[in-house]
Amino acid sequence: MLQLKKTLLGGIAPVLLSIALAGPVIASDAHHAHGKDHDFGRFTKDNLLLTPKDYREWIFVGAPVTPNDMNDGKAAFPEFHNVYIDPTSWNHWKKTGEFRDGTVIVKELVGVGTKEAASGHGYFPGEYNGIAAMVKDSKRYADRPGNWAFFGFESYEAKHGAIQADDACAACHKENAAHDMVFTQYYPVLRAAKPGKK
Ligand code: HEC
Repeated sequence: MLQLKKTLLGGIAPVLLSIALAGPVIASDAHHAHGKDHDFGRFTKDNLLLTPKDYREWIFVGAPVTPNDMNDGKAAFPEFHNVYIDPTSWNHWKKTGEFRDGTVIVKELVGVGTKEAASGHGYFPGEYNGIAAMVKDSKRYADRPGNWAFFGFESYEAKHGAIQADDACAACHKENAAHDMVFTQYYPVLRAAKPGKK
């Protein structure tokens, strides 16, 4: 009897776990099944971006790195910057070559781990350090440069991001980025997918 109980539990627990894990996946599949593009950004009542959770399943557009040892030890973001765009806005980009209202771009920070690998000397990703993000929305952020809001996040566990002052983020992006405040000059993935770029 005890043996049976054990087996039952052993059999049921993984099933329950897989139902729990499969839940959200089924929901988003249903979304796609309707062929309806949806916004990936979720917001508080005050238009603060809720911490994105599933961005590693979005479109990966590039990974610039600004290591401390090439910046007098003072790089603003001394990590790899893994950049992702949400799938709906990626589809729109491929059609129009523009960033739509609702675009969410996440910059995930990954520290430089080692500088030696079997392949040679270099910079190799270490551990995750957190994220930053930018969101374009002409209604939510009507008064922001280019209608982009820039977010910092205290941690992955933070419920939502904090909007950064224009001079902390937006000013540099406006001044230097190649396309609509996004640094497309460093993302061949975006450039190659832009229509009319054959
Ligand atoms: C002095 C200029 C400068 C400032 C200030 C700056 N950025 Fe950036 N940002 C860049 C550059 C250059 C890139 C692309 C290359 C890289 O990642 O190093 C970038 C990339 C990004 C990306 C990926 C999308 C893109 O446009 O390439 C996000 C998201 C981002 N920054 C958010 C922020 C946030 C949030 C702040 C404020 C806390 C900020 N940035 C401040 C220069 C800046």
